[in-house]
Amino acid sequence: MATAKSDAFVFFGATGDLAYKQIFPALQALIRNDHFDLPIIGIARSDWNLERLRERARASLREHGGIHEQAARKLCRLLQFVNGDYNDPATFTQLRKTLGEAKHPLHYLAIPPSMFETVVNGLDAAECLHGARVVVEKPFGRDLKSARELNRVLHRFFREQDIFRIDHYLGKEPVQNLQYFRFANSLLEPLWNRDHIASMQITMAENFGVQGRGKFYDEVGAIRDVVQNHMFQVLALLTMGAPVNRSADAMRDEKLRLFRSMRSLQPGDIVRGQFEGYLKEHGVARDSKVETFAALRIHMDTWRWAGVPFFIRAGKELPVKCTEVLVRLKNPPQQIFDDVDSSAVNFFHFRLSPDVVISLGARVKQPGEEMKGHPVELVAHHDTHTEMAPYERLLGDAIDGDSTLFTRDDSVEEAWRVLDPILGDRVPVHKYKPGSWGPKQADALIADAGGWNNPRLDPPHRVNT
Ligand code: BG6
Repeated sequence: MATAKSDAFVFFGATGDLAYKQIFPALQALIRNDHFDLPIIGIARSDWNLERLRERARASLREHGGIHEQAARKLCRLLQFVNGDYNDPATFTQLRKTLGEAKHPLHYLAIPPSMFETVVNGLDAAECLHGARVVVEKPFGRDLKSARELNRVLHRFFREQDIFRIDHYLGKEPVQNLQYFRFANSLLEPLWNRDHIASMQITMAENFGVQGRGKFYDEVGAIRDVVQNHMFQVLALLTMGAPVNRSADAMRDEKLRLFRSMRSLQPGDIVRGQFEGYLKEHGVARDSKVETFAALRIHMDTWRWAGVPFFIRAGKELPVKCTEVLVRLKNPPQQIFDDVDSSAVNFFHFRLSPDVVISLGARVKQPGEEMKGHPVELVAHHDTHTEMAPYERLLGDAIDGDSTLFTRDDSVEEAWRVLDPILGDRVPVHKYKPGSWGPKQADALIADAGGWNNPRLDPPHRVNT
């Protein structure tokens, strides 16, 4: 269904951290590359004014990607300012005036979820919701119950097609490439099932801690911060069936089917870790049991995937910053050559960051008399340059009303259903040393499937299967 393009960008949380790191740079890029020309109405509490907000926007651009003079000037020109408290109806009356003739405002809520209801109620009372759409940031709740509640609140005011839940992973070029590679080729499909695939694993490693976000992180932890959303989305793209077409709902229907097939996790399917020193981070409770590392084993009850284990590992303070996927294929049924050990001979490797790699692992014979070989990687794609920033893509799509890369309410709830039984302190948290690959208990989880593949960044496309 064709939807109208938004005609105003209303920006709640314009003075916050996310705005500074991501949103101003994305708006500048949209102005440069996409003829973005909408009024940008920043709403901020306390003692801000338009000049200060413009200064903040310029500082953000300087620090995150650089100023493009013409676009930055236009951004400052488009910027308007509404000062106010979210609890004060006058804030929203002022916003209504500032919106003027705009008929399809896009309300971007870069604010804590606890404020959503207050803000949306204020918008409604001041009649700022007609023809509007809303963009919300993760976390979409903190468990199944709160996710349902959040959806209920949003649905009181918006139709599902007007709600855009941002998961910035879905806006990443390599994540899009994963989907493209799977469904633009026919070569994977015959192999992409329990007959040929032994296991899949995804590692999201970060070689830094909570970077001053201790207070936020300690309320969330690795599972809520990156597994329920980013990692599950990548897993869904790797394992879902082909959508019937490219429409937002066709894509999202297939993802939903996939999430529905995932078994709810049991305590034995997860290992939680916390890096040594986390408790000293600013904003973290001194006796916190929150995980900074999680390793999970997942099963899907479908004809395609029955019996195939899927593993996800995500953590802070690991040796490298890298996100990659390793798909191990079953080995040949008989070993004719004695130089082949029991490790996976064939695999697909998708590196999503820092560089982008798609490769296929195989063995080839070494020249000479003996039938001896060595492993090679057939690199289909290797890209090192930075691509369109996820927020540029996603905000542009939201303005156009294209929901394809946004998460639907039913999938969000299904993902929580899978994780709900293991959230909180139900599973013990093990300490690990910063710079290690997490607690050793995580190794046992995957031992039967050939162990974790620890990403190595040099040379960039090598896998240690
Ligand atoms: C965010 C998490 O959603 O994703 C952070 O809150 C994490 O904790 C970040 O560091 C990782 O994103 P990227 O794009 O740097 O891989």
